[in-house]
Amino acid sequence: MRLDTDPYLQHYADRVGGLSASAIRALFAVASRPEVVSFAGGMPDTSALDFDAVTEVVARVLAEDGPTALQYGIGQGRPELREQLVGVMAHEGVPAHLDDLVVTAGGQQGLELTAKCFINPGDIVLAEGPTYVGGLGALTSHRADVRHVPMDADGMQVEVLAERLQELARDGRRPKFVYTIPNHHNPAGVSLSVPRRHRMVELAEEHDLVILEDNPYGLIDFAGETRVSLRELAPERVVYVSTMSKTFAPGVRTGWIAAPAPIRDKIILLREAADLCPAHFTQMVVERWLATQPWQAQVERFRATYQHRAEVMLDALATHMPPGVTWNAPGGGLFVWVSVGDGIDTSDLLAKAVQHRVAYVPGDGFYADGSGRSHLRLNFSYPPPERIREGIERLAALITDERELARAVYGDDVPAAGDVDAARPSGSDSSTPRTTGRIDMPAVVAREASS
Ligand SMILES: Cc1ncc(COP(=O)(O)O)c(C=O)c1O
Repeated sequence: MRLDTDPYLQHYADRVGGLSASAIRALFAVASRPEVVSFAGGMPDTSALDFDAVTEVVARVLAEDGPTALQYGIGQGRPELREQLVGVMAHEGVPAHLDDLVVTAGGQQGLELTAKCFINPGDIVLAEGPTYVGGLGALTSHRADVRHVPMDADGMQVEVLAERLQELARDGRRPKFVYTIPNHHNPAGVSLSVPRRHRMVELAEEHDLVILEDNPYGLIDFAGETRVSLRELAPERVVYVSTMSKTFAPGVRTGWIAAPAPIRDKIILLREAADLCPAHFTQMVVERWLATQPWQAQVERFRATYQHRAEVMLDALATHMPPGVTWNAPGGGLFVWVSVGDGIDTSDLLAKAVQHRVAYVPGDGFYADGSGRSHLRLNFSYPPPERIREGIERLAALITDERELARAVYGDDVPAAGDVDAARPSGSDSSTPRTTGRIDMPAVVAREASS
């Protein structure tokens, strides 16, 4: 149903007015055909799970605790599961007590409940540019005014954050919170450096801010390293959101929030209004998985699989992409963020890419303000290595053609594809030299195509 012919248009709440399914969603339906190599999703490779173990866990939950598993539960989530999740956090060095936690339907519900808890229409939220599409959806569905802070190889540029906060303070305004994905960012693939974590917390203290720390990928670090969490640095200022989606399975829809007690209590009330309680059955499955299985070994398997696929993708990019295209070399997570350079609009190009049997997510999906059109996000966790090679070769051939076309039409004066966040001095604490790119985020660790 098209929105302009929607007979209920006069009846909707204001917050629904701005929501519409994009043309891109329709293209993704085509992109899921088997002949298309899709780098578009953010899906973990659930075929890497030990299915015998999963089957055993599910069977035992039903055999030993069936009536309880199929009963209602409490809004905060089962204490037994929360205790296990505290163990998952501890594995990454993030401190918490089970009382701090609220179990949610994936990290996404954690983001949505946090947005619902804090946002009135028009409230400002500062977020990385680019940022997670689903985070943007949660914020904008509550009509937040999302403003982006640029990134570089060390994550959000906190000195730009400081400037933005000063500007807002001069106008008598303060953002409701800062939304950040500090580890293996989706889509940017970089992590917030430790000095910047300290600085962000310092700014939060100075401006009396809450920080929404979204951490699905902290344990998917290829070197097995962890960095100090914002929660650890400022437990009273941080709403921390995480998930079992990337370390176990997104299908169990199990995530959690860890928050200071007053916020936690509000969030429990909001969640009870939304869906009463998290699904008891899946909570018990996840709880038993964590309590009885070597889940750390499973995380290790995911990590090794994704590291290999990331290497295959980087290698294929270096072999096939034309000069002027840059990307970052992620140290974990699921994504590579690519700058295709001026003259190509990745949103416009997607239909052609799908015709060429390859799909990606155009960069503008990761911005509230329409920028990012000369970027695209590639997922490497889901397609197997041979499909990654095939898909990158197709994408590179298409981008090579498009760049040649743009050069033939415009010469050296190729127009930008609509990015507003032009490269600027970053104040980065990285000493690595920067190459090109309108958004200076990926360039610090970018490998320029060699041929
Ligand atoms: C940054 C970020 N936050 C939150 C989520 C939501 O995860 P979940 O599947 O647990 O809802 C995702 C999923 O891809 C994500 O990338």
